[in-house]
Amino acid sequence: MASKRTPSASRDAPDPSMVRALDLEPQGDDHAFDRTLRPRTFADYIGQAKHKENLEVFVEASKRRKEPLDHLLLCGPPGLGKTTLAHILANERGVQVHTTSGPAVEHKGALFSLLTTKLQPNDILFIDEIHRLSPAVEESLYPAMDDLIIDVVTGEGAYANSIQIPLQPFTLIGATTRTGLLTAPLFSRFGHIVRLDFYESVDLARIIARSAGILGVSIAPDAAMAIALRSRGTPRVANRLLRRIRDFAEVIGTGVIDVAIVEKASLRLDIDAAGLDDMDRRYLRVIIDHYEGGPVGVETLAAALSEPRDTIEDVYEPYLLQQGFIGRTPRGRIVTKKGYELLGLKPRAHEEEGEGPGQGRLF
Ligand code: ADE
Repeated sequence: MASKRTPSASRDAPDPSMVRALDLEPQGDDHAFDRTLRPRTFADYIGQAKHKENLEVFVEASKRRKEPLDHLLLCGPPGLGKTTLAHILANERGVQVHTTSGPAVEHKGALFSLLTTKLQPNDILFIDEIHRLSPAVEESLYPAMDDLIIDVVTGEGAYANSIQIPLQPFTLIGATTRTGLLTAPLFSRFGHIVRLDFYESVDLARIIARSAGILGVSIAPDAAMAIALRSRGTPRVANRLLRRIRDFAEVIGTGVIDVAIVEKASLRLDIDAAGLDDMDRRYLRVIIDHYEGGPVGVETLAAALSEPRDTIEDVYEPYLLQQGFIGRTPRGRIVTKKGYELLGLKPRAHEEEGEGPGQGRLF
């Protein structure tokens, strides 16, 4: 069973033994806590400084002109705060946000009903996983985004007739884990693209300290940093680890979160100092043990790990790539020298010398 909890991943009952403390997708009580801990204003939002400053300007300009914000695409791995940003933008702009997702909008009728009955002037329509809209639904969005109209076909055959229905001015905010899966016509309709990157550890430590304050738990500054370093650059993971470590602090510690309890709890949760867990190590071991360190294609890897390809690409790989433990070459994935060293293994001779199949061109 895949640990990625998306509607597409599986409809089987979740296997609790596969719930990862480091999973990027929301799990268990994450949804409720995401809402409690989520910042509601730019002032409360920590990290992604460059994007935040630009978005603040766009909101101010749209308020002054009394126009909707331009359509916006938010991209990046799960858990980096795409939904949070959409809610902040709505709050700061003083409008409502209406949330749906690509797979949830099954047909044009569902989209039209959202656009015609729910939206007040300048409201935001937030479509998560926008790359998973069906082609028919996606195409029906184009005139709505371009000209604030929808084309409704009435009747059939020789009696078919197309009528245009005007819409309230609105902003579409799309979120996607992978821009590469968006069609060119949809991509080109967004006025601004925000590519969220993994958070800096100092920012994650500030997020953890803020969340600890909201949860009413004491945490030492160096303990906040110790959690931050194990959080895969991801606020959702940071907040989940904080809650799990709070449990350990309350039951086997003093109730205060210090570095010692972070280290003890991490050991029990099977998370190493680099923030990698058992699944990450399995990923690296499969490439090393079965494919001589790579290159190996993602489909082969997905089969070997019994995980959907999407999960491999969206959940596991981005952080391993960003940290330099793996590389992507035209012929597939490789484990880098740093990846070997992480597992306490000696890189193959040609890995160290920078030649051989594992050293294909990185891209
Ligand atoms: N909680 C989750 N993400 C956050 C962020 N970027 N800033 C503050 N608190 C958060």
